[in-house]
Amino acid sequence: LQMQALAALEEVQGLEELEAWRVGYLGKKGELSSVLRAMGTLDATERPLVGQIANDVRINLEQAHKKQKEALQMVALQKREAQEKIDITLPGRMQWLGAAHPLHKVIRRIEDIFLGFGFTIAEGPEVELDYYNFEALNLPKDHPARDMQDTFYITEEILMRTHTSPVQARTLQARYPELPIRIIVPGRVYRRDDDDATHSHAFMQIEGLVVDRGVRMSDLKGMLLEFAREMFGQNQEIRLRPSFFPFTEPSAELDILCIYCGGSGCRTCKHTGFIEILGCGMVHPNVLEMQGYDARELSGFAFGMGVERIAMLMYRVEDIRQFYQNDVRLLEQFSTLA
Ligand code: PHE
Repeated sequence: LQMQALAALEEVQGLEELEAWRVGYLGKKGELSSVLRAMGTLDATERPLVGQIANDVRINLEQAHKKQKEALQMVALQKREAQEKIDITLPGRMQWLGAAHPLHKVIRRIEDIFLGFGFTIAEGPEVELDYYNFEALNLPKDHPARDMQDTFYITEEILMRTHTSPVQARTLQARYPELPIRIIVPGRVYRRDDDDATHSHAFMQIEGLVVDRGVRMSDLKGMLLEFAREMFGQNQEIRLRPSFFPFTEPSAELDILCIYCGGSGCRTCKHTGFIEILGCGMVHPNVLEMQGYDARELSGFAFGMGVERIAMLMYRVEDIRQFYQNDVRLLEQFSTLA
């Protein structure tokens, strides 16, 4: 039996045939098992001897099976490796990476700076009530300053917000009486302007609002200086110039010393040495009182900046419309995702 089995094992071709061989000789119903089963019919004196032989045969066959199995597995592996060979000379496929839009990059940078100052980000609707866009900001219905911002009206009471300032009133209302309030508000705003190189009927603003006990104009100035330095460089100089907004008193506009000529005059700053960056001021007492705050105990400051203006300045984009045309020749120039 052993010789027959070993001869058959030599002939085995693959792993499947090997398994059939194992079942045939070593399996429960295999040849060796029937020999062992037949031992019951043997004389008691013969049994130990036959048992010994059968056992040796089993061990020999199992060892031979193990060896053959390893050999066949090796052959199978080599065959597979030969087939799976990777052609490292194939040219790679170009991976196209997207890019963050320049406006998005500027917004994210400004957000990061103010998050570092302890602000949180708030938002509000683009389709807004006349109440939040104007009235709650100290601009009653017939106020001449409404003409500062030509407005898309939807109905008499509903309009496209002309600035992100309505979120000041919304936040004051929603958070009352919790203090401090320290938010920035990025968002799209709309003006009834004809589009040209410097105007767009839709553009982005970032609003800021701080309300607490004892907030002073010097706090505003200090924060704007730190913002300007983190945004444009640690030596950046700023200038606050008196201005007017109905919802701040006093009001100012923030100029930075021209980031290209440093104040000596160039094309970018139209030879003034300064570039206007944002509008700001101390929150008008009426704005606080309208939402129930006591303006004798509390004060605040607010600011609002145009994102496109800043992006045009930083990236030297000369036509605002380039931000909306999505021409890959522009976008590719911002082709690192950060
Ligand atoms: N909302 C003003 C604008 O759009 C900017 C501004 C915001 C001014 C906050 C003062 C305070 O021009």
